[in-house]
Amino acid sequence: MGAYADAHRRSLSDPDGFWLDAARGIEWDRAPERALADSGRWFADGVLNTCFNALDRHVRDGHGARTAVIWDSAMAGGAMAGEQLSWSYQEMLDRVARFAGALRSRGVGKGDRVIIYLPMVPEALVAMLACARIGAVHSVVFGGFAPKELAARIDDAQPAVIVAASCGLEPNRVVEYKPIVDEALRMSEHRPAGGVVMLQRPQSPAELGPDDVDWDELVATAEPADCVPVAATDPLYVLYTSGTTGRPKGVVRDNGGHAVALHWSMGAIYDIGPGDVFWTASDVGWVVGHTYIVYAPLLAGATTVVYEGKPVGTPDAGAFWRVISEHRVKALFTAPTAFRAIKRVDPEARELDRYDVSSLQTLFLAGERLDPETYQWAVDRLRIPVIDHWWQTETGWPICANLRGLEPMPVKPGSPTVPVPGFDVRVLDQSGQQAPAGTEGAICIKQPLPPGMLPTLWNDDARFHESYMSRYPGYYRTGDSGYIDEDGYVFVMGRTDDVINVAGHRLSTGSIEAVLAGHPAVAECAVIGVHDPLKGQVPRGFVVLKSGVEIDDETLRAELVAAVREQIGPVAAFRDVDVVDGLPKTRSGKILRKSMREIADTGDAKVPSTIEDPAVLDGLRGALRGRRE
Ligand code: COA
Ligand code: AMP
Repeated sequence: MGAYADAHRRSLSDPDGFWLDAARGIEWDRAPERALADSGRWFADGVLNTCFNALDRHVRDGHGARTAVIWDSAMAGGAMAGEQLSWSYQEMLDRVARFAGALRSRGVGKGDRVIIYLPMVPEALVAMLACARIGAVHSVVFGGFAPKELAARIDDAQPAVIVAASCGLEPNRVVEYKPIVDEALRMSEHRPAGGVVMLQRPQSPAELGPDDVDWDELVATAEPADCVPVAATDPLYVLYTSGTTGRPKGVVRDNGGHAVALHWSMGAIYDIGPGDVFWTASDVGWVVGHTYIVYAPLLAGATTVVYEGKPVGTPDAGAFWRVISEHRVKALFTAPTAFRAIKRVDPEARELDRYDVSSLQTLFLAGERLDPETYQWAVDRLRIPVIDHWWQTETGWPICANLRGLEPMPVKPGSPTVPVPGFDVRVLDQSGQQAPAGTEGAICIKQPLPPGMLPTLWNDDARFHESYMSRYPGYYRTGDSGYIDEDGYVFVMGRTDDVINVAGHRLSTGSIEAVLAGHPAVAECAVIGVHDPLKGQVPRGFVVLKSGVEIDDETLRAELVAAVREQIGPVAAFRDVDVVDGLPKTRSGKILRKSMREIADTGDAKVPSTIEDPAVLDGLRGALRGRRE
């Protein structure tokens, strides 16, 4: 039996043995005696500190001089000259211990929440690890969200402190964060008792109010804080992600299972060990950033690259190659959309000739389906293994992958390869029976769920069960559909719910619909994800006007687009909305989104037998044809 098959089989038949072995990669204040408790929680009798494992122990073991973090900003510095710095493990530890003390001086203690609203600066890692150090629970909010989204997270997480920066940098503008935070605090009911800690960036320092405190000033007088031991089952963070409704779901991550799974994954999946340079081009606001920019590389004693920039336009399509060559990156992890962006601007990859990218051994892609053209382009240009892997915020690490450090397997384009040890992946049909090989169905994970996966949703255990566990008893429903072929390779085809994936960013069509429905002229509406050659999918809206309303289509469109940007944020990339006479519905009133998607993507759709009024589909075809022309 190969190393992969052996590991996968053992992880399911002897989870205690498998994961207690993996747990030896982590240092515990009290080592767990069992891996999987009867409650389904991992390492329930273990006690540890995640920050200790990410920083202190490397320094203690004599690696304080090794580089922990390289920050490379393509956008800071004058005229896009760029700016860089690197911090050793010792320096990171000093900064984190001091900021942990600073948080404590603002009243943050074990179990308290801290909302972190920071762009791609190294202080984001400092703030996250400082929370972990004192047992506080961080909740990072992505910078592309609007005040209303931030407010919803403030009210749900009830933070003791908010840590924010004065601004973020986008290629075409400086995004002032301070007004966003102020506006969110005006909208939210909750007030953080410890106020807002503001990191002043030179590009646009903020004027501080009475409840704000300057990061540097706070840190200057702070006493460094030591690591606080926490139960393995205590929460490390809450990360909000889009569900099918407008209300985001607070995915909870615990300390013990997370540390063990991530540490194990760095060697087994990514083939990265101490001292290797690992670059995940994502954002700390997403799960990919939490896991593979911050925690996993540092748990492994590797060097992590924090890149503030885009794949193109900052300043050109050679940006990624430059970062790889300057920092001698061994493995890069990003979303396929980033490669589509590079391919669109520089189809022959001429920029590659300007850089020595020989350090790069593997390219990992995830976050959305990897289309075969992009896969082939990357393979042809880079001539290294290009590895698709599949995961989601809820799992926190890959469900399916080609485990490069354990046993590299042949690649089948279109498939993220095989289930990672710990994940018992099954494809189920409508009746909950296992689908035969090659037959598409709902991809589910049979319980027990592996370490690192969410144990619940913040403050909403009922929603956790209802969203994931109730449809197929004994299984976690991923929300993706797909199939498993005869060789055991998994193919992920797309979501079965109203979640869409825009440039690797997960969005809920329900939340966009809620904004459209709030416009006084709109009677009803639907939003679907339609194919986009760069971003994979983009949202497209359809609205039906209230009778008697007189408004010209262009004005309405502009107002709706502006409303989505204002209420959800620029990241929604909402630009297309059409006025139609009616929405296709079943006789029981359910909107036929699948038919709408078919028309949008192919120009036509089969008329479903359940449709109430087939003529509505003609109106939709007309609207979309007009758009294409
Ligand atoms: N703060 C504020 N605004 C942000 C933001 C942030 N952190 N991130 C994105 N935005 C804004 C952008 O400026 C843009 O605004 P605009 O409408 O005024 O132009 C909007 O949100 C949409 O951003 P994005 O989806 O990133 O589109 P883009 O056209 O700017 O860039 C890509 C397209 C493909 C280059 C870009 O999405 C990318 O680099 N993706 C990489 C993949 C990735 O990071 N995935 C995350 C999960 S792995
Ligand atoms: P997120 O929670 O933002 O990471 O988004 C998770 C969703 O992105 C998954 O449920 C999938 O729909 C999609 N996704 C992520 N990675 C892949 C992949 N490699 N192939 C296909 N879809 C993916």
